[in-house]
Amino acid sequence: MKVLITEKEIRDKVSELAEGIAKDYSSGHLHAIFVLKGAFIFSADLVRALSNNNVDVTVDYTIAKSYVGTESTGEVKFSMDVDVGGKEVLLIEDIIDTGRTIKKLKEELIKRKADSVRVVCLLDKPSRREVDIKADYVGFEIPDKFVVGYGLDCDEKYRHLPCIKVIQ
Ligand code: IMP
Ligand code: MG
Repeated sequence: MKVLITEKEIRDKVSELAEGIAKDYSSGHLHAIFVLKGAFIFSADLVRALSNNNVDVTVDYTIAKSYVGTESTGEVKFSMDVDVGGKEVLLIEDIIDTGRTIKKLKEELIKRKADSVRVVCLLDKPSRREVDIKADYVGFEIPDKFVVGYGLDCDEKYRHLPCIKVIQ
């Protein structure tokens, strides 16, 4: 497997994203919702980078699944037990591919009366988009390749890799 994004490049990008996000939350507070499982490592690093930028963060999570192996099923299953009424929500996602997952989760949070919902993703594959959705903050735009590492898996393998690698 070839390295696409190194550990250092990820670290620098997470700091840069946190700086940009901190500027937009003038209240100095946000409610982070991690999209598990894929975003668990990115989220853990990003909330600490936000803390370094003086943002207070509270944390919750949702679990979403749309992939089997390297194929999107087109159907998003999620479980979400969160109270977001009146909160400024930041949805933290590992990668946006067809866009179905993040669109569905964002709509659900708006339905549950979040004050605002912004989206940050580490990786974006814009060429794969099937629904109209854009993240507010994007780490890296990448080509249409299946990637693993830094939380992302292929059938639950490779999540622990500290960098992003291409599998096919
Ligand atoms: P979407 O609903 O098609 O945008 O898919 C988003 C989800 O699919 C992401 O949260 C990932 O969990 C998974 N996914 C999409 N592309 C990749 C990839 O290249 N590697 C690993 N997981 C991926
Ligand atoms: Mg995911």
